[in-house]
Amino acid sequence: MGLAIVIMAAGKGTRLKSRRPKVLHAIGGKPLLEHVIAAASRIVAPADIYAVVGHEAASVEAAVAGTGVGFVLQAEQLGTGHAIQCAQEAIRGYDNVLVLSGDVPLIRPETIGLLWEFHQAQDAAMTILTARPENPFGYGRVVRRGSDSAEVEAIVEQKSLSAGQEEIGEINSGIYAFKTAALLQYLSRIEAGNSAGEYYLTDLAGILVAAGERVVAVEAADPEEVLGANTIAELVSLDATLRAQNAERLMAQGVTIFRPETSVIDADVEVGPDTVIEPFVQLLGKTRIGSDCLIRSSTVIENSTIEDGVIVRQSCVIAESTIGSGARIGPFAHIRPGSEIGEDAHVGNFVETKKARLGKGAKANHLTYLGDAEVGAGSNIGAGVITCNYDGVNKHTTKIGAGVFVGSDSTLVAPITLGDGCYVGAGSCITKDVPEDALAVGRSKQVIKEGWAVAKRKRLRGEC
Ligand code: UD1
Ligand code: CA
Repeated sequence: MGLAIVIMAAGKGTRLKSRRPKVLHAIGGKPLLEHVIAAASRIVAPADIYAVVGHEAASVEAAVAGTGVGFVLQAEQLGTGHAIQCAQEAIRGYDNVLVLSGDVPLIRPETIGLLWEFHQAQDAAMTILTARPENPFGYGRVVRRGSDSAEVEAIVEQKSLSAGQEEIGEINSGIYAFKTAALLQYLSRIEAGNSAGEYYLTDLAGILVAAGERVVAVEAADPEEVLGANTIAELVSLDATLRAQNAERLMAQGVTIFRPETSVIDADVEVGPDTVIEPFVQLLGKTRIGSDCLIRSSTVIENSTIEDGVIVRQSCVIAESTIGSGARIGPFAHIRPGSEIGEDAHVGNFVETKKARLGKGAKANHLTYLGDAEVGAGSNIGAGVITCNYDGVNKHTTKIGAGVFVGSDSTLVAPITLGDGCYVGAGSCITKDVPEDALAVGRSKQVIKEGWAVAKRKRLRGEC
């Protein structure tokens, strides 16, 4: 059999000072491990990918279960060398193995491909992917046989660097290719004699060289790709890099993003051409935005679909919902999960919807709550209208037909149906169904007392 990929993802991530396992920390809205699995899946089938899990193994497995990769348990985390020892049985049948680190998430499939091709061309036992970042501090350094030699003598961890070795700018990315036979033959020779008392996979370079095996290194063109996330500061910096790349990708597709450094756009978000995104917008999760839209400042859209030509004005919150083409939303609208706002519909300021379906051209422009509601095409919901959908125990639905006019400040007590073309007088409390084309008025009658104020003022002045 050919090639397997092992992803080391069992560590706790002590330096993050977090209760969450390191590989489940997210950048670009997705866990680190998911990014690495996505890159690996472009090289081999998920069935040939093995994630080594250990710290909070069950939650790590659950988070990426959908990817179809296999798991190997490293019950105690005794170091990267030990992680690969735990994967021995899984990889035995493959000729070669690529090892990736679960906390190096920006790695591109093309670069993994470069490593794999170099490894084969060099016929090496071990090939190390390296880089020369601006600041190599903290990383293992790669000691080459000569400055222009592909051959490596050893990898030296930061803590063990000799004075001269501190000058070495070439780092170990934590990404390697191995001939499986050589890996399995020498893996047990790794010792935990370092200050951390861990089995370092990096020691294998020196061990293989001493055994007369060929160990080589290939440098990644872009050092940003192989940076690791060991601290929150590094994690946040990788997140910024990923989002900047993502914004670049969208702009190359014709999307205008003003002040892109202020926007938060997750890795899987898609946006059509000629859409304009103003500063301080967040587009999260699986959000899809069509073309010719305008998304104004301070809006947050999560796992939602916005069709073409929509305007979302300032400071809207939209979650798990669909907005039809040509619709106008906001400012300050709250579109909660399960809402379907129809084509050309308007949802204005301080309007909240939840599981509400608005038909084509329907309008709810001011200060309204529409929960568990259907509003037919062309209906107008006046300012301050409330669907009373909750009786304290259960939720009930409100059905409003097409072409209905609901006057301002009306309350619609669900379950209730308003027939097509009916009118509801302003200030009504509607508790019974309204037939088609009827008028419903549910408010107390107005009383007029002519001259009443004159008499009252006299009384107050003590004149009578
Ligand atoms: C490692 C390398 C270092 C390299 C750097 C690149 C070693 C000893 N050092 O250091 O040379 O420059 O990566 O990013 O390998 N893990 C396990 N089980 C364990 C320990 C770690 O699965 O017992 C996993 C972690 O979850 C992580 C990856 O292996 O995803 C790397 O471990 P980490 O402790 O972050 O290694 P570094 O100190 O960054
Ligand atoms: Ca690391």
